[in-house]
Amino acid sequence: MANQLLENAIVVTGAGRRVGHHIALRLHQDGYEVIAHYRTLTPEIQVLANLGIKTLQADLSNSQQILAFVATLKICCKQFRGVIHNASSFESTSDNIEVAVEQYKQFFNIHMMAPFLINQSLQSVLVGEDGAPADIIHITDINVENPTPDFDIYGSTKAGLHNMTLALAKKFGPEIKVNEVAPGPVLFMETHSDQVREDILAETLLGIEGGPEPVYLAVKSLLMNPFITGSSIPVDGGRRLSKR
Ligand SMILES: NC(=O)c1ccc[n+]([C@@H]2O[C@H](COP(=O)([O-])OP(=O)(O)OC[C@H]3O[C@@H](n4cnc5c(N)ncnc54)[C@H](OP(=O)(O)O)[C@@H]3O)[C@@H](O)[C@H]2O)c1
Repeated sequence: MANQLLENAIVVTGAGRRVGHHIALRLHQDGYEVIAHYRTLTPEIQVLANLGIKTLQADLSNSQQILAFVATLKICCKQFRGVIHNASSFESTSDNIEVAVEQYKQFFNIHMMAPFLINQSLQSVLVGEDGAPADIIHITDINVENPTPDFDIYGSTKAGLHNMTLALAKKFGPEIKVNEVAPGPVLFMETHSDQVREDILAETLLGIEGGPEPVYLAVKSLLMNPFITGSSIPVDGGRRLSKR
């Protein structure tokens, strides 16, 4: 499998854990050819590799590694059914300005530069099935519309990705649809305290942590729908309406 030329694969970035891993696994279970990108080699990546899924490593905060990743993608797959940009770095903005400068560079590269370079480089080989358009799906965040001030670098770079959804939908149609899935509280981080979890759920209309499957269902609905582009699906239990 390792050296086999793939066809019509869907690339999932950040598939080494949590939501990205779930999306890659579920796409495979639903019969899609998948290429799973990761930065850190994890047991979850080993699970995907054991299923015969092609796995590729790259640090997407580094533009040289992004371009090398794209070159490798093109070697191992003739044409692509879609790309799902899930990789992300999530942390609050540092009070130390020098650290914040580094955060900005890193978040900009992961959330904006990597999707831009990958999308631009794969445009000519993104081909849909049976005459339908191919898919680019950006995983953003409800913070794009209603930011959390302590996370302003994270949020503003995700907002850049939101704007890129709109720009590329105009640029890449009619051959490629470009959409976005904007999660709310689907999986808490280990670092979230009980109090923070309680506060978040208190302002989530459906009152639960959603889990990764609703994100996958939104991704799949976009893949299956030939007439949606430049759109965003919030998967947030309604939190965007009540978040302070
Ligand atoms: N979880 C939520 O409730 C929630 C809420 C709103 C939005 N979202 C969005 O949903 C998506 C998935 O969320 P998640 O909670 O599963 O994210 P996560 O746990 O933070 O995982 C992010 C993934 O991105 C990868 N990544 C980070 N930095 C990278 C880099 N420099 N180069 C390449 N890959 C890198 C990570 O790999 P490593 O293992 O190497 O770090 C990891 O696989 C993200 O886009 C996130 O912004 C999630």
